[in-house]
This record gives sequence, structure tokens and C-alpha cells, in this order.
Amino acid sequence: MISPRRPSGVSPTSNSMNAAQQIIGTATFTESPISSPTAGDRSDRLWESSPFRHPLENATSGETMSVPESHDREQDRDQPATATPGRVRGGVSLDVVRGLYNSNTGFSGLRRSNSSVVYPGGPPEFPPVKKLNPLNKKRILVSGGAGFVGSHLVDRLMLMGHDVIAIDNYFTGSKTNLAHWFGHPNFEMIRHDVVDPIMLEVDQIYHLACPASPVHYQSNPVKTLKTGFFGTYNMLGLAKRVKARFLLTSTSEVYGDPEEHPQKESYWGHVNCIGPRACYDEGKRVAEALTYSYARQDNVDVRVARIFNTFGPRMNWNDGRVVSNFIVQALKGDDITIYGDGSATRSFQYVHDLVDGLIALMDSDYTEPVNLGNPEEYTIKQFADMIVQLVNEHRQRCGDVGKTSTVTYLPAVADDPQKRKPDTTRAKEVLGWSPQWSAVDGLRETVAYFHRSMQQ
Ligand SMILES: NC(=O)c1ccc[n+]([C@@H]2O[C@H](COP(=O)([O-])OP(=O)(O)OC[C@H]3O[C@@H](n4cnc5c(N)ncnc54)[C@H](O)[C@@H]3O)[C@@H](O)[C@H]2O)c1
Repeated sequence: MISPRRPSGVSPTSNSMNAAQQIIGTATFTESPISSPTAGDRSDRLWESSPFRHPLENATSGETMSVPESHDREQDRDQPATATPGRVRGGVSLDVVRGLYNSNTGFSGLRRSNSSVVYPGGPPEFPPVKKLNPLNKKRILVSGGAGFVGSHLVDRLMLMGHDVIAIDNYFTGSKTNLAHWFGHPNFEMIRHDVVDPIMLEVDQIYHLACPASPVHYQSNPVKTLKTGFFGTYNMLGLAKRVKARFLLTSTSEVYGDPEEHPQKESYWGHVNCIGPRACYDEGKRVAEALTYSYARQDNVDVRVARIFNTFGPRMNWNDGRVVSNFIVQALKGDDITIYGDGSATRSFQYVHDLVDGLIALMDSDYTEPVNLGNPEEYTIKQFADMIVQLVNEHRQRCGDVGKTSTVTYLPAVADDPQKRKPDTTRAKEVLGWSPQWSAVDGLRETVAYFHRSMQQ
């Protein structure tokens, strides 16, 4: 049986490791937190005015829909996977992408108060999608499409003009993440558990369905293993039947508590197969083994992304992941709880970079696993300090006076990796992809998102 979507209480984060670079305290962070090429004055613009731009405004200015009709996957393939400032992969405007999660009264049309949510009647106004030549328009299945990463991927594929089917059992995902597409002729949402087979006609399958936070995947470890094996087996079986290209979202957890640092794709990992995290780690390892078995035995066209810690808007606020945990605690003025001594390291990637990488990998000819993550490395303590500072800055901008959090320490959790940092050389070489968002840039947007969500 599936347990409730949002377990009460926040459970241990998945973070604890050792030494790291001295990143906080450098000029980059303290003097000018925004330093990436995508930065500029973007965050200020974002919160001073509505990020949502009306489709007509975009059409008039020609900014959003300026990509010609013939723009398609073939063209994207020749482009670097890396987005240019203000745009993300697929020739999509960053402002339009932002409008899908920032606007309270934008495309979704939802109006919220403390006690009610109003769903507007009448025909919805949809975000503008690209007009693709029918030969270039793909039918794309996204399993786990209602989740955090899945919903951002669906947004992007929709804006690029494809037909998208999202399937989800809503274990950790939510229909509201995709409500702005309901009724759109290019979009379909199906409640379905991937542990059971499904028959669909599609060209590509992005297989994301699997709980990703320790609190969720450990709440029903047998189900997590069933999702890892049977879910992937069913999606691969579908890919084989309809000759669809299949992309597995694997994880850096296949490296376990790594003895090699940073982690290259050639590293076989160091996983405890009987520990509390094994249901997820081994579930993903067997999912990779299945994927390559289908490739060898049945010529299924496969791609495997090994995703490192990713954060951004639409993360569940209470799923125990370090970024959402720290931001919510800091916004509430509560103590920030670190499990372990705070010296463990992690690297954090912003969700738009990940979506760029997933689409680039799907559209590439490369079939071996590819790491997708941001190699900027922080100790957990540095990260906590950074979030406290960014939350304080954000509050000051909003004129919201609140208590400044202090950091407290709790015992480390079992099998928590001590170091985690991707080697992204392969992604750069084979996809031309490298992260464009610094952790600070992404955190600014995420802090503002959580702040607004908590006020609604
Ligand atoms: N976010 C990260 O930091 C991260 C890191 C590594 C790997 N990944 C992988 O990326 C994918 C997406 O992660 P996320 O962060 O969006 O997690 P998430 O929990 O927000 O999304 C997972 C989605 O899958 C759905 N789901 C779970 N089990 C299902 C089942 N049996 N049938 C149908 N739907 C099911 C959930 O309801 C949810 O919508 C996962 O496969 C995860 O392992 C994520």
C-alpha cells in the first residue's frame, strides 16, 4: 500500500560528510553572491515585477516565440546543451518558464488565501507553446511527471511544442504542479503506478517515477524496490514494444559512500546493500542493470543520467531534503538542524540546469551513463550559513522582519555519504553541457518561491 503523500514531520536529511573547499567567506559569496553568466540583476527583476509575461505581450515583442517554426530537435542537437542567459534549452524564454511556478494568478489561475483555493471556471489560458512541424513533434512520456523534476521537464517539453503524457501515482507528486497544462491539447495526465504495465504510443520515454527523498523512499522500502525494478521493467518493456527511446533518471546514490572523489561515471560505487538507503540505491542500480540488459538483448535505445542533488521551486517543503529543510527552517526562524558535524560535503544543482542536461542527453547519440550535477562543493555547514544569509537578504528586500536562525547539530544518520561531487567532464564532452546556475543564483529563486508559498 502506498503511504500518504506528505508524511508528517521532517525527518533526517541525507547529508553528512567531511572537509570541503572554503567557498563561503570568499569574495564570490560575501561581496557578490551572483556571479554566474546567467546572473546579472535577474533576481531583483524577478521579485520586483511579476515574472509572468502575457502570451500576447510575448508575441508582440517577439521575445518568447521568436524561434522559427522549423526549430526542432535536430537543430537543438547541434546547439550546445548549455543555455544562454535569459533562455533555457529549446529556445524557451526563462521568464515564461518562471511564470509557471512563480505566478499566483498567472497561467494556473489559482487564487489562494489562508483557508481556500479558488480554481477558476471557464477556459484556461495556456502558456504559449512553440508550433512544431508535425514531423518534428514528438510524443513524449514522462513517468513521475507530477513530481519536482518531472513537472519542470514537462513544462519545458510542452513549451518546446511536443505532445506530452505525464503518468504519476501522486505518491510524492502533486497535480497542482501541472495544473496549468490541464486541458491543453498537447498534454495528457494519467494516474498510473509504474509497477503495473501500461500501453501507450510514444516516441520517447523519460523515466523519473521513483520517490527521491530519504523520508519518502524509506517509508515503504519494499515499494521503493518494486518501483526501481518493476517500474523500470515496465517502462523498458513499453520502449521495446513501441521502439521509443528510453532515458532513465538514475542517481549519484549508485556511487554510495564513495571512495573516489569526485565521482566519474567509470566508478563502480561503494553501496551498503543491506542498509536503510539500500532500497533506493540498489533499486537504481538494478534499474541501470535492466536498462543495459534491454539495450544488449533487445536493442532498446537507452540513455542513463546519473543525477546529483538538485533543488528548486516545487520541491516538497517537508520531504527532509537538505535544501528545502534549511530554507523552511530559516524562513520560520527555527534552528537549522544538521545531522552529523556539518563537515560532510555536497554539490547542489539548480533544476533548470538538470532539465537542460536531460533533454540534451535524450537528444544525443550517447548511450553510456552521464553525470548531471554541479561540481561546486560545499560543506553542509557552509551551505546552512549561506541559506541563512540569503533568507535574511530576501526578508530585508520584502520588508519582512524575522528571527535569524542558528545552526544546531544532531547525530549523523546511517550510511549518509561523506562526500559527493560530480565529475562532469563526460557531460561537457559528449553533450556540450555544463551547469549555468551557481548554487547562490538558484537558491535566491528557491528562497523567494518558498517564502511566497509559506505566505499563501
Ligand atoms: N531531485 C534530486 O536531487 C534527484 C537526485 C538524483 C536522482 N533523482 C531522480 O529523479 C527522479 C525525480 O526525482 P524528484 O526529485 O522529482 O522526486 P519526486 O519525489 O518529487 O518525484 C517523483 C515522482 O514520481 C512519482 N512516483 C513515485 N513512485 C511512483 C510509481 N510507483 N508510479 C508512478 N509514479 C510514481 C511521485 O508521485 C512523484 O511525482 C527520480 O527518479 C529520482 O530518483 C532526483
